[in-house]
Amino acid sequence: MIPARAVFSGLQRRAFSATARDLSKVTVLGAAGGIGQPLSLLLKLNPRVTELALYDIRGAPGVAADISHINTNSSVKGYEANASGLASCLKGSDVVLIPAGVPRKPGMSRDDLFNTNASIVRDLAKACAESCPDANVLIISNPVNSTVPICAEVFKAHGVYNPKRLFGVTTLDVVRASRFVSEIKGSDPKDEKITVVGGHSGVTIVPLFSQSSHPDLTTNADLIKRVQFGGDEVVKAKDGAGSATLSMAMAGARMAESLIRASQGEKGVIEPSFVDSPLYKDQGVEFFASKVELGPSGIEKILPVGEVDAHEEKLLEACLGDLKKNIEKGVAFVASNP
Ligand code: NAD
Ligand code: LMR
Repeated sequence: MIPARAVFSGLQRRAFSATARDLSKVTVLGAAGGIGQPLSLLLKLNPRVTELALYDIRGAPGVAADISHINTNSSVKGYEANASGLASCLKGSDVVLIPAGVPRKPGMSRDDLFNTNASIVRDLAKACAESCPDANVLIISNPVNSTVPICAEVFKAHGVYNPKRLFGVTTLDVVRASRFVSEIKGSDPKDEKITVVGGHSGVTIVPLFSQSSHPDLTTNADLIKRVQFGGDEVVKAKDGAGSATLSMAMAGARMAESLIRASQGEKGVIEPSFVDSPLYKDQGVEFFASKVELGPSGIEKILPVGEVDAHEEKLLEACLGDLKKNIEKGVAFVASNP
């Protein structure tokens, strides 16, 4: 017969490990911004997030105080805008979302943000490498095609680079594609699963309609352009007041939720993401967005691009040329501005 004490401690252990696995500290850097605020709100509403940590160079404690009154169980804290505040904010994080940096104004490309945002992302990446090297880091700050390689180079320099835990958030491209298709087809966007690969700007964004249930759309130049330049639509409509914030918050919250679900053991969680990828390394393209299966260690599997038609083949060619330059620009920045 098993002694009662042994049964009890076994149960205790099981209870403890289940609880530990279900704890999720999610951190937002740039939490008081246009994306940061609604993103933090959506994370507060997510029962899988147990601790929400908010940082910004201004205003994070105020956003945290506001959000902390929402009657969900998670704790919320806004940290002081200094190095020790940032370090405490990051410590113990499972997921770090980074929407810190300036957004576009009409007439600007995402690459025009490089001069300002490259150093912001470099410095925040340093803080992550020092305080939470094992966290999943999700980069939202543009230009994503360059800021993700910047983050990778910083982690490499600190000797803590784990390519399975670094993600450029391209979820919004997929969200847009499914919505735009549903508008044309009169369907429910939740049923429109559109694969979008490549990067996150202009022609580096490649929707693969031939793989969807509407292969006829593969030659619809207006739709392809709308997916590639959807961000410009919002920048133009906001007329100088910034770029997509609310739809981006939704997309970022979805990506974070998927990572948490996968880390808690759910199988088959697939999200598109811009990651350190073997798919086009032979052509000198070190990072590429494609469907990625998530797991407890971050990236479980990078799915192949799959079959594409001749038209999409051309789009991919244009994508790879630009993407390679964007990635190299990020790598070169860290080399000369460590
Ligand atoms: P915003 O100006 O409204 O907010 C940015 C926030 O970052 C501000 O609160 C600012 O104080 C903060 N910040 C600046 N430097 C910081 C630092 N060193 N540490 C911490 N916080 C800092 O801008 P936004 O509209 O929220 O956009 C943020 C970024 O996200 C932009 O670069 C934008 O281009 C990008 N973006 C990406 C996607 C995507 O799909 N990946 C979509 C939309 C926007
Ligand atoms: C987007 O796609 O909406 C973002 O990358 C912001 C932008 O500058 O367009």
